[in-house]
Amino acid sequence: MYAIIGGTGLNKLAHLEIVRREVMRTPYGEPSGALTFGQLGGRDVVFLARHGYGHTIPPHRINYRANMWALRDAKVDGVLAVTSVGGIRKEFGTGVLVAPDQIIDYTYSRGHTYFDGTGAPVTHVDFTWPYTQALRERLLAAASAAGELVHDGGVYGATQGPRLETAAEIARMQRDGCDLVGMTGMPEAALARELHLPYACLSMVVNHAAGLGDSKQMISVEHLDEMAQKAMERVHRILECFAAQPAPPANTDPQPQSVAAHTG
Ligand code: HPA
Repeated sequence: MYAIIGGTGLNKLAHLEIVRREVMRTPYGEPSGALTFGQLGGRDVVFLARHGYGHTIPPHRINYRANMWALRDAKVDGVLAVTSVGGIRKEFGTGVLVAPDQIIDYTYSRGHTYFDGTGAPVTHVDFTWPYTQALRERLLAAASAAGELVHDGGVYGATQGPRLETAAEIARMQRDGCDLVGMTGMPEAALARELHLPYACLSMVVNHAAGLGDSKQMISVEHLDEMAQKAMERVHRILECFAAQPAPPANTDPQPQSVAAHTG
């Protein structure tokens, strides 16, 4: 069973036949909402709205640790995260869908790790490739099956929000090599890795990033939700195909190793 985390514009899954909702307790507090278990494309899935079902939790206040812990406890095979983003790379204009393959993290002051030094040895995880390739491939195959174009690869720059970026910040991110900018991709991806949960992301571009294209002077924030809604029908089609694919054989995703290391 896969988990789907919905971002802005995706507070519920079209065509999900809901079977039950479950309020999960975690050592990290409450997830963004109850987990919604149901059937999509004829298979079991669990859905969670990242910003809460009423879209009330801003990116920096999301309890990412509780969310990922709850999904791990639900014994999901992996997590597909849907995010709305600004486009930095020229080809990534409004409406483009991307499966990023890299991340640069500019967030701060978020609960970003389970290895928080409570008497356990200092622990590092490999994060060279932050998304699980097998799950990315499953997503890209679902997009083909749905007849939708999803760009394969891109660098997701995660910013703190909730304000949008300045033009200079985006120019710096562009120099850094970012192709997309969003506020929720981290620490979610890193926490998935710490829990050994396969994780991939489907990003939809809802605006040109600050200072670029038609956002040269300003970003018209009223249009962001509208753009997210516009892309959503295509996203729903992809998600249905994603869910409908046969479950993966056990252990096809390489399990990243946690490395425990004592430092001086
Ligand atoms: N910046 C950060 N996050 C976003 C943007 C953006 O331009 N658009 C949608 N999410």
